[in-house]
Amino acid sequence: EQVNEKGIKFYNDTINSLLENKIIPIVTLYHWDLPQVLQEKYGGWQNISMISYFNDYANLCFEKFGDRVKYWITFNNPWAIAEEGYETGEHAPGLKLSGVGAYKAAHHIIKTHAKVWHSYNKTWRSKQQGMVGISLTSAWGEPVDLTSQKDIEAAERYVQFYLGWFANPIYSGDYPEVMKNYVGRKSAQQGLGTSRLPSFSVQEKSYIKGTSDFLGISHFTTRYIIEKNYSAFQGPSYHTDRDLAELVDPKWPDPGSKWLYSVPWGFRRLLNFVKTQYGNPLIYITENGVSEKLQCIQLCDEWRMDYLKGYINELLKGEVKMVKGYTVWSLLDKF
Ligand SMILES: *[C@@H]1O[C@H](CO)[C@@H](O)[C@H](O)[C@H]1NC(C)=O
Repeated sequence: EQVNEKGIKFYNDTINSLLENKIIPIVTLYHWDLPQVLQEKYGGWQNISMISYFNDYANLCFEKFGDRVKYWITFNNPWAIAEEGYETGEHAPGLKLSGVGAYKAAHHIIKTHAKVWHSYNKTWRSKQQGMVGISLTSAWGEPVDLTSQKDIEAAERYVQFYLGWFANPIYSGDYPEVMKNYVGRKSAQQGLGTSRLPSFSVQEKSYIKGTSDFLGISHFTTRYIIEKNYSAFQGPSYHTDRDLAELVDPKWPDPGSKWLYSVPWGFRRLLNFVKTQYGNPLIYITENGVSEKLQCIQLCDEWRMDYLKGYINELLKGEVKMVKGYTVWSLLDKF
């Protein structure tokens, strides 16, 4: 209910010392840090009221810091906020609302993003001349069998349910067709009157479309994809809605986290997908890199050099010329 002046001072000091050291701040407004009280009292991102609370917060940040901050990311990795926070419950706030919670959280997050972009556009842009974007995380999905139409479509679904879920509304005004079809059909088979995937009104679609001055892309890894049909009677779930299975090549190195296989060529394919699907947007790579499981006292990160070299080379070789920045994952995240 009130502004924390110590917090404002902390960020003012941080931003000022970055600028004094010739470091340009790119500020993320939300990286999984919902105040617990909003979760406990109102249900967090399940509640549509978050749109206006978040918009107040974003406007405060623009007012206090926007004279010096010119790059704003509304949300970092909304896929994980929705899927891990409200679907599987693997991460905070730990809700297991399978097949429903993630779609609802994502719906509110997308609307919030659009509202914040419009606030900036209307109130702050002319004075501050900055940019507002969103940062989306996605793996690449490659068909197991490139001659199988079913695998090709399943791999496309994988990426649409991952990246398209958020990028398509922002760049084209609505969820990907394939997502609407698959969640809609499974919901009907489960006897539900409406799809578990919420829908945008005509006004909302045009309000959301075009609300990103740049696209932040975070990317780490790739999966092989085959079609796999799940019965609707297994119960609602984001994962079975997609009708696919994910595979990995045992030859892919996985030097860090168990899920993080090094597959540099997937990066280039993902970026080409972004270019063609979303009209060649301005891109910043907001996270790319590899975590560590080896424990050593001496420096022993040849494998990390290999990973970064491989991925950055694919980026440089790529057809996508709109990549304007690259930040490595990371000095402080997971520290
Ligand atoms: C949603 O948030 C509002 C406050 O903005 C609250 O009055 C309402 O009870 C909340 N709804 C639920 C279902 O918690």
